[in-house]
Order: sequence, then structure tokens, then C-alpha cells
Amino acid sequence: MLHTITIVGAGNVGGSTAHACLTRRLGNVVLLDIDERIPRGKALDLSQAAVLEGHGCDIVGSADYADSTLSDVIVVTAGIPRKPGMSRDDLLRVNADIVGQITKNALKYSPDAVFIIAANPVDVMCMVAHQAGIADTRRIIGLSGVLDTARLRAETALAAGVPGHTVQGLVIGEHGDGMVPLPRFTEVAGLPAALLLTEEQTEQARKNTVSGGSRIVEYMGSSAHYGPGAALAVMVEAVLRDKGDILPCSAYLNGEYGIKGIFMCVPVRLGARGVENLIVLDLTDEEKDAVARSAACIREKTAAGLAAQ
Ligand code: LAC
Repeated sequence: MLHTITIVGAGNVGGSTAHACLTRRLGNVVLLDIDERIPRGKALDLSQAAVLEGHGCDIVGSADYADSTLSDVIVVTAGIPRKPGMSRDDLLRVNADIVGQITKNALKYSPDAVFIIAANPVDVMCMVAHQAGIADTRRIIGLSGVLDTARLRAETALAAGVPGHTVQGLVIGEHGDGMVPLPRFTEVAGLPAALLLTEEQTEQARKNTVSGGSRIVEYMGSSAHYGPGAALAVMVEAVLRDKGDILPCSAYLNGEYGIKGIFMCVPVRLGARGVENLIVLDLTDEEKDAVARSAACIREKTAAGLAAQ
């Protein structure tokens, strides 16, 4: 039997996520939004595309949470997106309110679902979802490192003149300007990237990774969605197919990395129940400092986000 994936928020990220999940044949998709017109229109468009794509999954567009009953995964993409000049944190108060409401509504119909959060600032929104009623923190996963790492891989590939899929890498920490790319883990086809790139190129790839989302906002006046949609589909797949993939995601830290009581991106193993376990890396002092700064930022914003509730 096909799984059910509910995507709350039928904007660009919601639409791209739906399409990425459908073309990977991950399950039937329910697209929800406050007003039914956009989700219904996108569902119609996607169901027409489905004839050509041949994935055989159903798509429903709705404003009624009852249509999401017994979803296996709920992806939360709703919230106001970034406009030029806005940081992810400017979205904090508005989105905390929206994500809190969505979580409560979705939980009524899918009490056991795994929640994948994409609304920003994502590390804070994961905590908002937890406070709104998802008691088991393993069932809350934030979109951050899969996307940030894709950006690092793309930038490294460009500099090295190799295809992006041959590059591996890792970005941890907050999903924001304080994210922590870890160049010593970047590899091209198993070779340390440092063998192929100059120090300047490595530094430029790091900078371009951090600004990867903002540069898209500056070009288009709205935020990225193909990358986020593809990254979310990778995360949904790891959960629904119980793959055990190790992916960098925002997850609840309970003392790992010396950090407790916030969500932050670290490598985690994802399976049917959400986060199976966190991978703790042996970081250098410099990396530890960067991670600690990231965690301090998240902690401050989380307090502000919860106060806004
Ligand atoms: C980005 C959004 C998803 O990084 O935060 O493009």
C-alpha cells in the first residue's frame, strides 16, 4: 500500500516538494493550505502531469485537515517566505504562530506521523512543533543540512570541474548565516577536496554555500524551492522507506556536542520512526567553537520564538 504524505503549505516549496515526492513514487500526496484554491489547482496540475510521469500516486488538494487523516509524514512548508533584504529570523514571530497551529491541527488526524519542518527559522520552528504537542522529539526533523550540503556540493563541483553527485560534504549547525560547513569532510569521488581545490577556492565554496539561499532571494525576489523540494523528498524517502540514511538534519540535542534542549543540524540516521540516532563527530577546537556559536544563536532565537507563542 502506498504511504500518505501530507504537505502543509501549497506555495512554491510545497508544490516542488509534492512534485519531487511524486516523481520518486514515495506515496499519495495531500496538499493543504488555508484557502483551498491553490492546493486544488496544484493538485489538478500535478495529477495531469502524473499521466505523463506514470508514478500512479494520487494527489489531493484541500483546506480540510480531515483529508490528511493517518498520514505517515507531515511536511510543514507553510509560513511567510523571505523577501529581499529579509533574514530567516525576520520570519520568526509570524511563522511560530503558523507552525504551532498547523502542528496542533495535523496531530489531531495523524497522531503518529513524523513531522518534517521546512518553515524558517527552521531550528526554532522544530521546537515550536515540539511545544505544540509532538512529545517525541525523534519525530521532528528540520530541513537544513541536506539543502545546505547540496549547496556546498554544487559549489565544490563547480570549482573542481566535476559533476555534483560525485562530491560529498557536510554542513552542520544553524540553518542561517551561522551554519558550519566542514571543509575537511568534503570529498570528490573519495579524494579529499583539498587535493583538487586551492585554499581560496575552498573558502569561496564555503562562502557561496552560506549565501546560497540569499543569492536566490536576491535574484528572484522570493526564496528557493527546487532545492528545498528535492532535499525534503530525500528526507521523506529515508523515513518512508525506513532506509537508515545518515543525513544532516535539524534534530533535538540532548547533551550531544555538549548542547542540550535545542534543535540544531547534525548528522542523524533517519528511519521509519524519524531520528533513530544522532552521530557525534570528533570536531577540532575551531569547529567546536563555530558549532557553539551556532547553538547560542539558536538558543536565543528559540527563546524569542517560544515567547511569541
Ligand atoms: C533556503 C530556505 C529553505 O535555504 O531556508 O533556501
